[in-house]
Order: sequence, then structure tokens, then C-alpha cells
Amino acid sequence: MASLDRFRVTGGTRLHGEVTVTGAKNSVLKLMAASLLAAGKSTITNVPEIADVEIMSDLLTRLGCAVVHENDCITIDVPEVLGYRADYDLVRKMRASINVLGPLVARIGKAEVALPGGDAIGSRGLDFHIKGLESLGASAHIEHGYVIANATDGLIGASVQLDFPSVGATENIMSAAVLAKGVTTIDNAAREPDIVDLGEFLLSMGAKIEGLGTPIITITGVERLNPTTHATIPDRIITGTWAFAAAMTRGDITIHGARARDLELPLEKLASAGAIVTTTADGVRVQMDSRPQAIDVATLPYPGFPTDLLPMVIALNAIAEGHSLVTENVFESRFMFVNELIRLGAQIAVDGHHASIDGVPELSGAPVEATDIRAGAGLILAALVSEGETTIDQAFHVDRGYPNFAEQLRSLGAQVSRE
Ligand code: UD1
Repeated sequence: MASLDRFRVTGGTRLHGEVTVTGAKNSVLKLMAASLLAAGKSTITNVPEIADVEIMSDLLTRLGCAVVHENDCITIDVPEVLGYRADYDLVRKMRASINVLGPLVARIGKAEVALPGGDAIGSRGLDFHIKGLESLGASAHIEHGYVIANATDGLIGASVQLDFPSVGATENIMSAAVLAKGVTTIDNAAREPDIVDLGEFLLSMGAKIEGLGTPIITITGVERLNPTTHATIPDRIITGTWAFAAAMTRGDITIHGARARDLELPLEKLASAGAIVTTTADGVRVQMDSRPQAIDVATLPYPGFPTDLLPMVIALNAIAEGHSLVTENVFESRFMFVNELIRLGAQIAVDGHHASIDGVPELSGAPVEATDIRAGAGLILAALVSEGETTIDQAFHVDRGYPNFAEQLRSLGAQVSRE
């Protein structure tokens, strides 16, 4: 399927204009999963048009929900009696499927969720998810490729310490603890805006949660939650992608609907690369007149530099003035896409979790392949500053995270087609 599934980009245009950022993929999928916690109709707005939303809709439908998706609004009617098995054929397509685990165990005391697939960016264990549910009194183990969890007598609040502030584990534990008996604390919890968004969704369902956005989240279990209506936060990774696109192409992009406060560090880094970054009434504007200066970056959990913007930083540094060092601290295989960038003429040496980059004035177009969503987006940005034509195969990866990317790029002046 993949070989004809590509973006075709002719480089050399400066991107100018305005875009509107949609709801965050990494938030909406978790909100959809958390709707399982209450019987009845929950409504989520600001839903992006991406393939992963359809996969999560299919997963929820198979668990017994009636899902209606119209424009940017999704309504999930959750039955009193839910299924408990999330099958491999759906789960393998998307990491976020694991987010049904916590809600199912909390609501019906039972879940069987296939070990997830998703992007090839690293090993992505589930040990924190499993240990967390065990701390709350569930039994959980992996058998025949499935996480099997049981809590027939219900969950009981406990203190959970995470070895690493995992986004997915914090989400699963939080969305299980909201229906547990008593108080749960999550120590070393993830602080990403996606966690706060999910927490606010749960609060609006009637959950009791304190400390969202801090390393210690305290949850007091309640007996029952109610369906709710909630708007997804804007996608900070798409916002960051546009911001890097403006800086790399020496362009000028105003991103409406963006929340600059979710991206403080990336925007500061772009300013140190020479960009003019302005917060506007409803978003952010990034302008660049000259060749970017190289920037050193180390990825870290929020509020650190997001690992999902690593490919964009490497692409920018590939054409920047000077030498840079980029360190990846979250996913060990993120650098896989560097080989593709080298095909475009980038000068990059990878050693363990460091990439050492010597900027070149211009890249040259070539056929390359997207290995995951963000790598695909990074390659498209690199193609925009490559002389001649670049094709980016395995484009479906990019569709998972960037609604109408080619159309939006064209509206900013880029020469891009999606084939
Ligand atoms: C989420 C995002 C992903 C983002 C990442 C970090 C979704 C669907 N994906 O992924 O885009 O790059 O956060 O911001 O929201 N780990 C373990 N054991 C566990 C759980 C995690 O060892 O049980 C490790 C992972 O292998 C990784 C690190 O912890 O090295 C961080 O992973 P985590 O924060 O859980 O990322 P995801 O939730 O999978």
C-alpha cells in the first residue's frame, strides 16, 4: 500500500500566511477513551480530522459505544454494559489504544487490551501502566500479546510512584483512580498539557483531582461519574511544526488558535535561532528573515523540549549556520529518520542519543521515507528547503497527526502534492 502513498514537494518557497491549528491528537484520543468512565452521551469538540480518531472510534464502537462524528464534534454514547476486549487488529495501529485500559478496569473491573503498536520510535514499555494498576489492587499480566487486567472487587486508592513521568501511565492511572475507593497520589506524574486536558475532562465528569500540571496528582475516588461535554486543547506539536516551518523557510506564519504557553521552550529556541516570535490575540506569529542559527536542544518531559518536535529541530539545524548538538532523552529510536535526512545532503553524525549536526546552506531533493508521524513532518520541512523535488513515501504516517497537511502547506505557498 505504501509505495504510492507519498508527498511530493518542490523546495524553495518561503511560507507566508495564516493557518488555524486543530485540536490535539494526543489529547483527543485520551478524552475519547476516558468517556468510557460514564454511561451516557459525552461530547468532545475541536476534534481533528485524523486517521487515529477513526481508529479510536472503531475501538469504542467495538466495546459497545455508539460513536457519531460530525465535523469537529464527536459524540460517544457509552452503554451501561461495556465490552472489555480491545483487539489486536485495531490496537496495533495506534499506541493511544492503551488508554482504554484504566477506564475499563475502573468501570467494569476487567480489561483485555492487545499490546499496542504505533510509531517506531523506541521500545515503549507498559510496565509503569501495569505496576500502577497493581498498586490500585488490580491483577495485571501480559499473556498471548494482551494485557489482561482484573479488579473484580473494585480498585482501592494507593500511592503510586513513577520511575519516569510517563504520559500514558499517568493518564491510565489517573483515569482508573477516579473511580477507586479512597485517595490515590501519583508521584513524579507527567505534567504535559495533555494530562491537564484529560484531568479537566475528568473533573467535568465529577471526578476529584488536585495537582494537575504538577509532579504530584492527588485523586479522591468517587462512586460514579457523569457524561460531559469538553473542547480539546489545541495541538502544540502541530503549532510547533508550523513555527519551525516558518523559521526554516525564512517565512512568516501566523498560527491561529494556538496556545503559546504550551510551547515556551521551543519558541524560545526559535527566537535564539533568529526568528521573531510574537504572541497574538489568538495564537502566535513566527517570522524569519535570515538563515537560522544552529540551536542545541535536549528533549525532556514537559516543560522540557518535546521529543515530538525533535525531527523539526534536526531539520532546522541541518540547514542552519553553525554546528549543533541535539540530545534525545525520551525515545531511543527517534534518530532512525536521520538516515533519510542524510539522503537530502544533511551532515549529521549520530552517537547513542546524541546527534551532531553541521549545517549546510542548502539540501538537495531526493526520494525519502517517513518512519513515523513526526519524522514524516520533519522530512517535509526539510524538503521545503531542498533544491528540486523530494518525495516522502509512507505518507500515511503523517496523515495520522496532521489533518490536511498538503492543503495547508499549499495555502502558505508551498509546492506540495499528496499522492
Ligand atoms: C506520549 C505521546 C507521544 C510523546 C510521548 C512523550 C501519545 C499517543 N503519544 O507517548 O507522542 O512523544 O508521550 O511526550 O500521547 N515507558 C516505560 N514504561 C512504561 C511507559 C513508558 O518504560 O510503562 C518509557 C517509554 O518507553 C519512553 C518513556 O517512558 O521511553 C516516555 O514514554 P511515555 O511518556 O509513556 O510516552 P507515551 O505516553 O507512549
